[in-house]
Amino acid sequence: MNVTIKTQALRRLRGRYPFGHAGDILSSDAGIGPGDVVDVVGEDKRFIGRGYFNPQGATPLRMLTLEREDINEAFYRRRVRQALARRAGEIHGTDALRAVYAEADGLPGVVADQFGAVLAVQLRNAGAERHRELIVNALKKETGAAAAYERSDTGERRREGLNMQTGVLWGEVPDRIRFHEDDLELFFEWQSAQKTGFFLDQRDNRRMLANLTQPGQAFLDVYSYTGGFSLHAARRGASTLALDKDAAALGTLEAVARANQLTAGARLGDALEVLTQLEREKRRFDVAVLDPPTLAKRKDDVPAAKRIFTEAAAHVLRMLTPGGYLLISTCAHYLRVDDLLDAARVAAGEAGAAARVVAVTYQPADHPFMLAVPESLYLKSVLLRTEA
Ligand SMILES: C[S@@+](CC[C@H](N)C(=O)[O-])C[C@H]1O[C@@H](n2cnc3c(N)ncnc32)[C@H](O)[C@@H]1O
Repeated sequence: MNVTIKTQALRRLRGRYPFGHAGDILSSDAGIGPGDVVDVVGEDKRFIGRGYFNPQGATPLRMLTLEREDINEAFYRRRVRQALARRAGEIHGTDALRAVYAEADGLPGVVADQFGAVLAVQLRNAGAERHRELIVNALKKETGAAAAYERSDTGERRREGLNMQTGVLWGEVPDRIRFHEDDLELFFEWQSAQKTGFFLDQRDNRRMLANLTQPGQAFLDVYSYTGGFSLHAARRGASTLALDKDAAALGTLEAVARANQLTAGARLGDALEVLTQLEREKRRFDVAVLDPPTLAKRKDDVPAAKRIFTEAAAHVLRMLTPGGYLLISTCAHYLRVDDLLDAARVAAGEAGAAARVVAVTYQPADHPFMLAVPESLYLKSVLLRTEA
């Protein structure tokens, strides 16, 4: 079955860009079902590659290969092997990593996070769903994980016309998933956790901030989830306060802190409201992080997202001690480093604070940013230090 693309999209797809948008499609053969593998051809009928096609999807075409190769279990096994090789020797001090990151690893819609011997899997589009058995077999054989669960309950599936899907994929999956990050013993309950369970992508930033935190200092973890940043800072001897609106996540933070013989404070509520209260209480902090959810899912959301960053950062900067650090992070592809800097600049002006930019960081190596896939860059963080 063929899908013909317009000449305008040729160079992009041949240049390894994996998405064909609705405006790129000239025609498609009758009878193609959601997620079918198709041959992608140009207007001159020349072969370009193979991909998943979903006529109902917001992004109808997702390229798999530029070769005339069969899309079978061996194909998926090769791709998983390549993904694991890409990470070899890159990730240290932990038994948890993102083993497969979708288009960035040539596996559109497939995400797999490994936590010790257990794999967490998401199948996010109709093509991955159609090949569920092949993909799951490939992941099982190549990662060697003893057990796996699925958390395919993401908004992307809805946009593909798919139902939410969660459950055990193979092996014995305990309710509580355990793993390590440096000397911290971490865990979460996989059925109630957010996303695949844990934000592995902030690992390097958590370490960076912990290294800047001195014993006895006050650490503020805004949009904390299960408090990864707090726990690293508490391990350094800081007194920590985590803010989140997810009560279960804060419950996990408290349980994990106890299991590590640490104390970590937590406040439940809307971040902006709790920040306002903390300011009223005249609280002071030496190191802080702002790590909100994806505030800009579309380009149009950028101005509103910047306003939230500005408001939150202004609160924090007013409470930050001179010489203190603030890390501002976004996981939204559409927010650029410049947007974070703009928001921080306005916030510093409102707070009457002088600050310098100490570092700009990106996602770690197990979340590869592929040159040909601009969308694979999503995590950007700016580290500020207030003038002493
Ligand atoms: C990207 S996650 C944070 C990850 C965390 N920093 C870590 O290292 O594990 C964003 C968090 O923001 C929380 N959140 C979303 N909207 C919020 C709001 N209005 N107020 C407080 N927390 C919110 C979510 O519950 C989620 O835990």
